[in-house]
Amino acid sequence: MIGEESKIFSASPKRPAKFFHSFALPDGTRIAGDKTLDTLVREADVVFRNGVQGRSVIDIGAWDGYMSFEAERRGARSVLATDHFCWSGPGWGTREGFDFIHYRLRSKVLAREVDIPDLDPADLGTFDLVLFLGVLYHLRDPFAGLLRAAALAHDELVVETETACNDSEEPVMRFFPGAELDGDATNFWAPNLSCLRAMLQDAGFPQVTIVSHPLIHLGPGRGRVIAHARRS
Ligand SMILES: C[S@@+](CC[C@H](N)C(=O)[O-])C[C@H]1O[C@@H](n2cnc3c(N)ncnc32)[C@H](O)[C@@H]1O
Repeated sequence: MIGEESKIFSASPKRPAKFFHSFALPDGTRIAGDKTLDTLVREADVVFRNGVQGRSVIDIGAWDGYMSFEAERRGARSVLATDHFCWSGPGWGTREGFDFIHYRLRSKVLAREVDIPDLDPADLGTFDLVLFLGVLYHLRDPFAGLLRAAALAHDELVVETETACNDSEEPVMRFFPGAELDGDATNFWAPNLSCLRAMLQDAGFPQVTIVSHPLIHLGPGRGRVIAHARRS
C-alpha cells in the first residue's frame, strides 16, 4: 500500500456531537449515530460472509469507519479507510468521528483522503476485499465509480446499494431527480438487480451473489441489497 496516511493524536480528539455510525466500544462507551448498531451488526455479518481474517481490506466511503474497525476487529491483515465527500468535501459530515473512534480503539486502520474518481491501484495497491457500501447511488456517474472500486479488487468486491425497477428483467438503472430518492439530493441512481449483476460481471467478476439487506426492505420493485462479486 503506497502513500498511507493516518493522523497521530497524543490525546483523545474531541468527541463529535454527531455520528453517522453507532458504536459499542470495548470500554463500555456507547455511541448512537444515525445508523443504528443493530443495522450495522446485521450488515457486517452479510458484508463479511466470505471471511475477512488475514485479508487486506479497503473501505471506500468509510465515513465514521464502522466497517473498517469491524474488519480490523475480525482479524483483517490490513485495513485502509478512504473518504472525501464527508471528510473534507462538500458532504454532510467530517472525519472527527473516524478519528475519535480510531484513537479510542488504538486502531491500526490506515486512512486516506481520496475522492472516488481518484481511486487508483497504482497509488493505493490492490486488496483482497474492497467495500463499496452505500456509495454507488450517490455518484453522478455510478458505473465509472464502480469501475474505480473494481480496479482495486484482486479477489472480492462487496457493494451495498439501493435498487429500483426490479420488476424488469432488463438491466436498467433509474435516475432520481432532485431529492426524490429518500429526500436526499445526493442520491442519483439506483440499478435494478439485473443491471447491478451485469455491471459487476462487466467489471471482471464472473461470480456475483446478491442478497437482500437484512433489515431495510423498501417495497415492491425496490430493495436495498448487498452484492458479493468475485474474480473467480
Ligand atoms: C451513506 S454514506 C455510507 C457510509 C458507509 N460506507 C456505510 O455504508 O455506512 C455514503 C458515503 O459515500 C461517500 N461518498 C463518496 N462520494 C460521494 C458523493 N459524490 N456523494 C455522496 N457521498 C459520497 C460519503 O462521503 C459517505 O462516506
